[in-house]
Amino acid sequence: MAVLAGCRQDMHNQPKFIPLRSSEFYSDRRSARYPVPGTISRTVSGDLANCSNNASPECQESVIVDKEQLDPNSYYLTGKRGNVYGNDLPGDLPFKTDTPDGRQNILARGQERYTIYCTPCHSQLGDGNGMIVQRGFKRPPSFHVQRLKNAPLGWFYDVISNGFGGMPDYAAQIKPADRWAIAAYIRALQLSQNASETDVAAADRDQLSKPAEQGITIPDTSIISPAVTTPVTPVPDTQPKGNKR
Ligand code: HEC
Repeated sequence: MAVLAGCRQDMHNQPKFIPLRSSEFYSDRRSARYPVPGTISRTVSGDLANCSNNASPECQESVIVDKEQLDPNSYYLTGKRGNVYGNDLPGDLPFKTDTPDGRQNILARGQERYTIYCTPCHSQLGDGNGMIVQRGFKRPPSFHVQRLKNAPLGWFYDVISNGFGGMPDYAAQIKPADRWAIAAYIRALQLSQNASETDVAAADRDQLSKPAEQGITIPDTSIISPAVTTPVTPVPDTQPKGNKR
């Protein structure tokens, strides 16, 4: 009897990792292991290389997922080479960065993601005066202070990935490729706030001194909203009563 019970115990206590439980076996103490670099996700149809010419969100997304399976210490996933933050975009982003159109795409994507995730605190201008800051949340520094103008792109990637001081991390919400897109957009935002006449193409420069377009009159809103007191007519209650579905 005792021998049989012993056998049963053996089957019950199989060596296994409970999901997300830590492990002493691996040096990074994660029981969940990264797939071997180069593993191709089952959701990717066909050749991955095709995706660099395919702008469909599904295809891009599948590449993004695949990139997440890279070596966790890669520049792509840390913003650092060794201990040094880099100031360039990783070469293997699912956005093309070597054509004007490609750069336009990554900035547009970055602007969209920035508007969703960062403006509530950092504001559309990046001056740190977002809506919830105006309602009392800790005020972040402006992106236009010299220290952050000098900060490398990898630093912005890192802050989004790991948070910073009073700022939470956005690793769960924003995929690595999009973190890079946001970092690139912030750099563009910084440049836009400090542009000088020489940044404008010579051919367009004379436009700068032209007076604003004629013929557009901006209405004076104080006239549009006069203190009219329209009597409020009560809306008759037409909803059938007691007619629950
Ligand atoms: C909930 C508000 C909030 C949101 C949303 C937010 N941040 Fe922040 N951020 C902060 C605060 C607060 C600080 C200052 C933290 C501190 O110094 O303790 C900060 C600081 C920073 C810094 C400066 C770090 C430094 O070197 O001083 C960067 C860069 C940054 N945020 C980027 C972002 C980006 C990019 C996003 C969007 C993905 C974002 N933040 C979203 C609140 C926010």
